[in-house]
Amino acid sequence: MSESVVSSVPCPSLRSLHEILPQEPLLMMGAGPVPIPDRVAKANSVVINHLGETMSQVIDQVKSMTRYVFQTNSKWVLGVAGPGSAAMEMAAANLVEPNDRVLSISNGFFSNRMAQMAARVGGIVTEIVTPVKEAANPDWVREHIEKVRPQIITMVQGETSNTVYNIHLKEIGKLAKEYNCLLVVDAVCTLSTMPLKMDEWQVDAVITGGQKGLSSIPGVSLLAFSELAWSKIKLRKEPVVQWCLDAKLAENFWHNNGYHYTAPVSGIMAIHEALKLVCEETLEKRFKRHLRCSLALQHGIEGMGLELFVPPESRLNSVVGIVIPDGLTAEGICHHISHKHKVEIAGSFGQPIVRIGQMGEQCREHNLFRALHALGCTMRDLGVKVDLPTGMAELETYLQSLGR
Ligand SMILES: Cc1ncc(COP(=O)(O)O)c(C=O)c1O
Repeated sequence: MSESVVSSVPCPSLRSLHEILPQEPLLMMGAGPVPIPDRVAKANSVVINHLGETMSQVIDQVKSMTRYVFQTNSKWVLGVAGPGSAAMEMAAANLVEPNDRVLSISNGFFSNRMAQMAARVGGIVTEIVTPVKEAANPDWVREHIEKVRPQIITMVQGETSNTVYNIHLKEIGKLAKEYNCLLVVDAVCTLSTMPLKMDEWQVDAVITGGQKGLSSIPGVSLLAFSELAWSKIKLRKEPVVQWCLDAKLAENFWHNNGYHYTAPVSGIMAIHEALKLVCEETLEKRFKRHLRCSLALQHGIEGMGLELFVPPESRLNSVVGIVIPDGLTAEGICHHISHKHKVEIAGSFGQPIVRIGQMGEQCREHNLFRALHALGCTMRDLGVKVDLPTGMAELETYLQSLGR
């Protein structure tokens, strides 16, 4: 008897996508994903053969632009189909061998994730946790290096979860080399928003995602290894357990025009265009734009009487943390600002804050005015006394004072 062609699991009845999506697009001012430029969106609709001459030209340009954005001359630039976490995991999986000693500097949720990843691939991890709201102090790091004698140090440049900026990254890079350690840096929320000089600061692996500073789509991430890191990868005794994340297999696609897995073609087109926009703007101008916009936003927030979570000396500019006023919740604020004012902002992981992103396309004056106004109105709607006119005026005054 032939098999019946009638499905036993019925086809579900569904709403169309436009019925699910909000009628008016939300302004994405959270901790990522961020708005993407038109050129990136158009590139993201392109599908070509993932192997062959055309793709190889695109990949060559992606690698050379990545070297500029990461400030490295290392050959070992790779991409990965996956979120920023996949790039983090690729760094951990390739650099950490079973029983390697790893010192993980943790400022919060994401830097703790790196420690977990290093432990899962067999590293003997010592996690040291900074006090809340504080950057990692190099003397404190040295003390722990001397105790642990790690082969690898992991840290984050900007801890998005609580908006702390590890301002001493360069000094920690120097320390890592003094003690013959490889330094792995998560720059997921900071890359292209502020300086990170991979070679000059002696960083051995830099990790980033697409959906934050680069203003590309989520789902394609980039990482680079120094020559030193690559020589450790080459000398590994055991193969990397995660086949998809094996850097030597990925080399086949990213450096030899060969097959590893079917590359996320459209996402690579999108990140190509996002990187090209960074190159056209130049890093210097991009950093200046980010700093100016973030500081102006911070002045505006304080000007209306709200409190910023982290003190200026260790405050992250790429994502701004705002203390939740008494009686409110992050969910309540985010829900109100999204539904009433069509602006999306973020809650947090473990801290009493809401967060506004200042990454890539978020750092545009019109977005600052709309987001700040929406935040002020939301607070007022929810019963908090804020001085909205003064906040808006502070934003304008600060933008003017810094010029373009
Ligand atoms: C600093 C940092 N590291 C890692 C990640 C993880 O990136 P993804 O969510 O793309 O996996 C994030 C995401 O917000 C982040 O901010």
